[in-house]
Amino acid sequence: MKQKIMSGMRPTGKLHLGHYLGVIDNWVKLQDEYDCYFSVADWHALTTKYDKTETMKEDVLNVVMDWLACGIDPNKATIYVQSLVPETAELHIYLSMITPQNWVERDPTLKDMAKILKSKEGMASQINYGLMGYPVLMTADILTFNADCVPVGIDQVAHVELTRDIARRFNNVYNTDFFVEPQPKLNNCSLICGLDGNKMGKSFNNDIKISDTAEITAKKIMSAITDRSRMRKDDPGHPDECEVAFKYWKIFGDEPEIETVECECEKGLRGCADCKRQLGAKVNERLAKIRERRQYFEEHPEEVEKIIKEGSQKARIEAQKVLAEVRKLIKMY
Ligand code: TRP
Ligand code: SF4
Repeated sequence: MKQKIMSGMRPTGKLHLGHYLGVIDNWVKLQDEYDCYFSVADWHALTTKYDKTETMKEDVLNVVMDWLACGIDPNKATIYVQSLVPETAELHIYLSMITPQNWVERDPTLKDMAKILKSKEGMASQINYGLMGYPVLMTADILTFNADCVPVGIDQVAHVELTRDIARRFNNVYNTDFFVEPQPKLNNCSLICGLDGNKMGKSFNNDIKISDTAEITAKKIMSAITDRSRMRKDDPGHPDECEVAFKYWKIFGDEPEIETVECECEKGLRGCADCKRQLGAKVNERLAKIRERRQYFEEHPEEVEKIIKEGSQKARIEAQKVLAEVRKLIKMY
């Protein structure tokens, strides 16, 4: 039997290249070998955005369109929306009973989120009960399918560690070995930085969206930071100090191309503007197929909705099997 993989993403709207290269591309490679469940974590989005739900439906659709465009294949992997699998909420309740409060309180990602919230004004600056439960809900996502592996970015590894702790605790409390302790599976792809050299993020205005057109992408890349010490185009450059453009070359170029860029830059034979124009073309080449597919799904939203519905039904059937066993183990009525 194939090993099971579960992972998810919050519906934050249109995704960017950080999501693609850091997470989705990895999922695409895994879907052939594993039985995969990919969730749009809309309840997780509510933990911080419970009062900004106008765009929820559109955000969910956009995330799924980006996944499909990047090559997640609904015939191989199960794509579903978290709130359409209510069994996860039931499992969340059972898990919340056996999770000591200090386990959630020490979760580093949660601490960061709390800090960000505290810096904001108004209602949202309070940490609500639901947000405290964030890591337990994520545990419920993973254990709903009794997954073996969880492919995530580095920032989510602490959550998966907690999942292992909670799975072990459940097994101890109910004297079973039912739950697998899932392994975090880190992507080995180098993280892509934003156009300004900081972490790529929607709110930093330094991202390239999967759904950006070729023209916008090329234009954005022209704004990427280069070697700041370089004044004229025939000055010798320092690829290692070229903060963004050369890093992108290393992600999108092949070996000989990277070598050529490096060599020409060092000798002052390559101007930054030309270099970035070429880079833009290179990035666009890599994204061409993805854009084509995305456009197709944008024009056929009913197909996307059908994929979501069918995937969620399929996920539910698996979830119900796990929940039946859990209820039995706890000795519920
Ligand atoms: N917490 C994850 C994030 O913010 C999203 C997520 C929700 C997730 N449920 C999950 C990731 C289950 C892996 C497994 O990115
Ligand atoms: Fe960076 Fe290219 Fe300019 Fe060299 S020529 S500093 S690699 S953008």
